[in-house]
Amino acid sequence: MGLNTIKQKIDNKSLKVGVIGLGYVGLPLACEFAEADIEVIGFDIAQEKVDLINMGKSYIIDIKDQKIEKQVSRKKLSATTDFSALKEVDSISICVPTPLNKSKDPDISYIEAALESIIPNLKKGQIIILESTTYPGTTVEVIKPQLEKTGLIIGRDLFLAFSPERVDPGNKIYTTKNTPKVLGGVTKECTKTGALIYEQVINKIVTVSSPSSAEMVKLLENTFRSVNIGMANEIVLMCNKLGLNAWEIIEAAATKPFGFMPFFPGPGLGGHCIPIDPLYLSWKLKTLNYDAKFIGLADEINSSMPEYVTTKVTLGLNQHKKSINGSRILILGVAYKADINDVRESPALDIIMKLQKLGANIQYHDNFIPEVKLGDNTFYSQELSEENISKNDCLVIITHHSYFDIDYITKKARLIIDTRNATKNFNTDNIIRL
Ligand SMILES: NC(=O)c1ccc[n+]([C@@H]2O[C@H](COP(=O)([O-])OP(=O)(O)OC[C@H]3O[C@@H](n4cnc5c(N)ncnc54)[C@H](O)[C@@H]3O)[C@@H](O)[C@H]2O)c1
Repeated sequence: MGLNTIKQKIDNKSLKVGVIGLGYVGLPLACEFAEADIEVIGFDIAQEKVDLINMGKSYIIDIKDQKIEKQVSRKKLSATTDFSALKEVDSISICVPTPLNKSKDPDISYIEAALESIIPNLKKGQIIILESTTYPGTTVEVIKPQLEKTGLIIGRDLFLAFSPERVDPGNKIYTTKNTPKVLGGVTKECTKTGALIYEQVINKIVTVSSPSSAEMVKLLENTFRSVNIGMANEIVLMCNKLGLNAWEIIEAAATKPFGFMPFFPGPGLGGHCIPIDPLYLSWKLKTLNYDAKFIGLADEINSSMPEYVTTKVTLGLNQHKKSINGSRILILGVAYKADINDVRESPALDIIMKLQKLGANIQYHDNFIPEVKLGDNTFYSQELSEENISKNDCLVIITHHSYFDIDYITKKARLIIDTRNATKNFNTDNIIRL
């Protein structure tokens, strides 16, 4: 049971894996297994995703239809909403969302729901690997006791580990396969079994002493980003007071070949990870009477950036003798980062709402995002035509997609508020940087 059984199944090519949650994390992982000739069943509650996969279609920007089609047609990948098929698999990777609730506390209800689907379908010898980012202690304090209620013993009858996902959507160099993967099991056998499964598809596995350590590794990585972006954002606020260009300064500092790693300011944090994950850590620390100061400060500064951008737009229009109320504003880029089609937590959404509240008429352009629903309003991406640029009082660059023709935009726009230094090579009077 366990390691030896998995080894045998790998040797005789009968290993079968399950992936629960087929989103930005789960679908690429499922594809890696399928491409390595390991049969994968993907589980999701969203019928439309399951249907698309079974039809050989992708809904994730980094995965082409052909990839899915090939694996589905050679029967290495299938998807289902029927969780009883979990009985057929040897390992189960859980890749469901871990958002915040309204009071910005961790919402692990998706993990709990996944667990409820797993428990009635458990089979002796299975390994369960949680991938969803969560606070240290989730695997051991929440998942382990639930699994043990079945009477099965972890480390003997069942195996359990945490292995954080590091996928960076849109990254052309680092993919699921060539990004080292950290893994910590409840017992040594759990760690070895989990590492063996992932070694089949990922170049390097880094094992740590426990699931809680693995959970903490992921939160360190994302807190590191949040804190450093927070500092870059504070640098922009300071440079604004000093009349200096923050990007020029950061880029010059980055020429130091050691001891400095550049982070750049922007309109605020976006995506399902960096704005959320550090708050999982600070929440956990609060339960232990510890105030995570860096996380709190970074969150405060990063969350204040949409308001700062709104003020910049208002002051910019004022310089052009225009009131924000009644002005026409075109937002360029609403995805949370360049060249991807994801708007989750995008600061563009917050900025649109703030500008609208002040009476501005908002349109946006983003070829990656055809429409955006905000409250009762639905916005549709507008063409980046000369007419659309010139009829607006102000353009606000929120996300610098690589297809933007900045030269053209700079020539045609009356006023540009540039939150990304996209206009770096232009020095015309109509540009205001953060
Ligand atoms: N997106 C990223 O770049 C990224 C990177 C690293 C880590 N993560 C972490 O990975 C986890 C998943 O993120 P994601 O971006 O893939 O989310 P996602 O929203 O793209 O995908 C999650 C999928 O889980 C499905 N789901 C929800 N509840 C389910 C249930 N009970 N059973 C089965 N399926 C269910 C949803 O329908 C959805 O398809 C999160 O914890 C996130 O923090 C995300």
